[in-house]
Amino acid sequence: MRSYPRMTSAIVLGTRPEIIKMAPLLFALESEGEKVILIHSGQHYDDALSESFIRDLGVKAPDHYLKVGSGSQAFQTAECMFRLEKVLSDTRPDNVLVQGDTNTVLAGALTAAKMGIKVGHVEAGLRSNDRRMPEEYNRRVADHVSHMLFAPTPDSAGILESEKVWGSIHMTGNTVIDACETFSKVAGEKSRVLENVGFDDFILVTAHRAENVDDPTVLGGLVDVLIGAPLPAVYPVHPRTEKMLKQFGLYEKLAKSENVCLLPPAGYFDFLVLMKKCRFILTDSGGIQEEATSPSIRKRVLVFRRSTERPEAVDSGYAQVVGTESGAVARAIATEAKSGKAPKKPSPYGDGKAGRNIARIVLEARP
Ligand code: UD1
Ligand code: UDP
Repeated sequence: MRSYPRMTSAIVLGTRPEIIKMAPLLFALESEGEKVILIHSGQHYDDALSESFIRDLGVKAPDHYLKVGSGSQAFQTAECMFRLEKVLSDTRPDNVLVQGDTNTVLAGALTAAKMGIKVGHVEAGLRSNDRRMPEEYNRRVADHVSHMLFAPTPDSAGILESEKVWGSIHMTGNTVIDACETFSKVAGEKSRVLENVGFDDFILVTAHRAENVDDPTVLGGLVDVLIGAPLPAVYPVHPRTEKMLKQFGLYEKLAKSENVCLLPPAGYFDFLVLMKKCRFILTDSGGIQEEATSPSIRKRVLVFRRSTERPEAVDSGYAQVVGTESGAVARAIATEAKSGKAPKKPSPYGDGKAGRNIARIVLEARP
């Protein structure tokens, strides 16, 4: 890269996927000598969802920790805006960079934009068109207040063009592919997770979306499907889901099943190893749909949702939306176990250089 005059960017993040997906951009900016202020909202606060990723990925300790914690949609967003405003008025960065669609992202983008600070939205232009998802509101607002929109694919760039967003649109790839490829080798060397998994051939399962796990019919259906599946399941459980499994009286039933290995939320190295080792994945996660297409993983994903904002994973043959109705999910698992095969196609989410692409655009956009 050429040399640029110094300026300051602030990265605002707060959850597991934001740490993973912002790490490559942070590293790229730092390697250019850019001063980066790292602001952690505290939306995720358990070690297993936050610090463990900061440690393992080698991300610097946050400069500011807002300690927002859990709460209702409005509380979490408002509290984050309120606390962030103070930090941004003290530090006055030239840019604020946010990633994805969490409440932290909505708060970060809106607070900065209204303070006259340039906002860069990483992973812009995704749309599920599902009004049940809090994330759909967050990503739409973030896109429409941002100055720089980093769309991971031509499809997402096209959505932003069709919605006539204010900011400039840049097609950059998705930084999760950078993370996956960077850490895949060290994950294989460091992870011991397979020692805790009693199965050699398994389905890797995750579920945490509010519209799924807060619904007793959907969550109860998932439990029955996993217990009766033709392949065993390895399931690292998100704390939100653990809470709901216990609340609905489902936890013991799932934990007792010999067909299911429940794990705490996995660290990134462990999760990369589990993705690599499994036969296929059943998930409602966004990031996992993308990671499964990366050269070091290449696994089929059954998307445990009614829709996806990642149609590229479906179009490339890696993913299939199977809905959340238990009969349909069970049939999809049976078919996949019998005859599923991951394609050997390049990832639609880029070549692992998204962090550097975005850093270059941020640096070139300086006044
Ligand atoms: C959030 C994001 C979601 C993202 C996910 C990544 C929103 C609206 N949702 O969902 O888009 O996919 O993070 O994992 O921003 N909890 C803990 N420990 C923690 C954090 C949360 O126990 O460190 C529990 C609490 O009971 C909390 C619940 O999980 O109420 C939900 O946490 P929250 O951050 O509100 O949403 P997620 O489901 O994690
Ligand atoms: N992940 C992880 N451990 C787990 C589950 C997920 O490290 O137990 C990683 C996964 O590799 C991906 C990211 O977390 O990079 C996805 O986060 P999550 O599913 O919580 O959020 P989403 O992507 O749906 O917003």
